[in-house]
Amino acid sequence: MRGVRRAFPGVLALDGVDFTLRAGEVHALMGENGAGKSTLVKVLTGVYPRDAGEVRLNGELIHPASPQDAQALGISTVYQEVNLIPGLSVAENIMLGRLPRRWGRIDWRAVNRRAEVAMDRLGLHLDVTQPVGSCSIAIQQMTAIARALDVQARALILDEPTSSLDAKEAQNLFAVIRKLRDEGLGIVFITHFLGQVYDIADRITVLRNGKLVGEYETASLPRLELVARMMGRDPDEVAALESARPADAARAEQRTPFLSVRGLGRRGSIRPFDLDVAQGEVVGLAGLLGSGRTEAARLLFGADRAETGAVTAGDRAGVPGSCRQAIAWGLGFCPEDRKAEGIVPNLSVRENIALALQARRGVLRRLSRKQQTEIADRYIRELNIVTPDAETPIRSLSGGNQQKALLARWLAADPRLLILDEPTRGIDVGAKFEVAKAIEELRAAGMAILFISSELEEVVRSCGRVAVLRDREKIGELSGPEVSAQGIMATIAGAAH
Ligand SMILES: Nc1ncnc2c1ncn2[C@@H]1O[C@H](COP(=O)(O)OP(=O)(O)OP(=O)(O)O)[C@@H](O)[C@H]1O
Ligand SMILES: [Mg+2]
Repeated sequence: MRGVRRAFPGVLALDGVDFTLRAGEVHALMGENGAGKSTLVKVLTGVYPRDAGEVRLNGELIHPASPQDAQALGISTVYQEVNLIPGLSVAENIMLGRLPRRWGRIDWRAVNRRAEVAMDRLGLHLDVTQPVGSCSIAIQQMTAIARALDVQARALILDEPTSSLDAKEAQNLFAVIRKLRDEGLGIVFITHFLGQVYDIADRITVLRNGKLVGEYETASLPRLELVARMMGRDPDEVAALESARPADAARAEQRTPFLSVRGLGRRGSIRPFDLDVAQGEVVGLAGLLGSGRTEAARLLFGADRAETGAVTAGDRAGVPGSCRQAIAWGLGFCPEDRKAEGIVPNLSVRENIALALQARRGVLRRLSRKQQTEIADRYIRELNIVTPDAETPIRSLSGGNQQKALLARWLAADPRLLILDEPTRGIDVGAKFEVAKAIEELRAAGMAILFISSELEEVVRSCGRVAVLRDREKIGELSGPEVSAQGIMATIAGAAH
């Protein structure tokens, strides 16, 4: 790709970008939220036309007008916002548009068999006839990847494919990627997990504000340098940011209890568990994917109905029967699936941010337009949300910036207990520091926080205490000096405690 340019109203998303993908390499495309990574992918694959520049495949100029065009040219893509049809089975989603036929009819046995083979390749053995909508986000992501791998491709583009995967699933995917690379495919890999870049990428291209910063061999670009290039800062500044450890303060202080959970549970969701969170405390929920972290949070928030147990939250006691009631009790819940449960795509950034606060105040105490704008502008500034203004529809923001706006919604609602389920999924390193800082400030101001993250370093950094889950059961709790990535892993493995 040479001199590629693409503008949106108020934003120059790509400003004369060059990008070269070789056959037989894994090429990481890196940059902060809103840097232009997804837009580059979409221009390459015909989702958006380009305003200027040229794209060549094996030396030939190409002009794909749609993802189908691109696919016919051998460019296969998994987009950041995975698009599957929830009511169709995993197998149908994998084979959609190329369902094998026999005697003029769809050959369902062949459909299911090929889908099973595709999932097997990713190390997943599951019932491919179940509807994809009932699967976890991780399985949905794997389904989209399996779909891309099922076609003969020369280039494979993966836009944040590992955002919902745990370490083991990511390693399975990497094994497949390495094999494809050795078969001569060119692979573009976008992620905000820096460790993965060093694990798998041969070369790195960095974008910043729609411009090319540079192209590097992974081996000759140390991590700090990479982060500094992405953020447009000095490596020394980055080192200082990384060494800050806000959790130290969280461990020392005296606290008043706020939330106390006793024997809360639901069949098929999570075994009855106890949990306490005090004001001014950040408690982590750690465990592998599917261990019951989200399920625990949903019971607490009344999103699913608990069958046993009870909750005390401040001076309220009982079991929240609905999200509305949980909000009235002073609870907030920033869910992990921003597309399905979080953003309202056609509303503006302002409206999306004001939503939870408005729900808490009730219909009779309407926030004025001016109040909404003030709140939105404040969080756009504090969390560095890249948007032309607060009136832009949230769907046109980059994925990571949507995530930040969602976080802003719950920060603005000022709950007494905030549940954060994977709040940093898809957000860039700089913003992760901002989020860690925001959490620490809220904690210091007396908020109780329940923090769910698959990134153990994050859990360790922010949490004074960690409840560990495995197979939908709480199996232990670590506090103070016991809180370490190793300690958590050991508890999950059942070796210690
Ligand atoms: N359809 C659209 N309409 C208007 N603006 C858009 C649209 N798509 C992207 N943009 C803007 O273009 C810029 C680049 O967005 P892009 O999605 O490429 O970022 P990204 O690097 O993929 O970020 P992230 O890491 O958050 O996914 C952002 O400022 C974004 O708001
Ligand atoms: Mg993106």
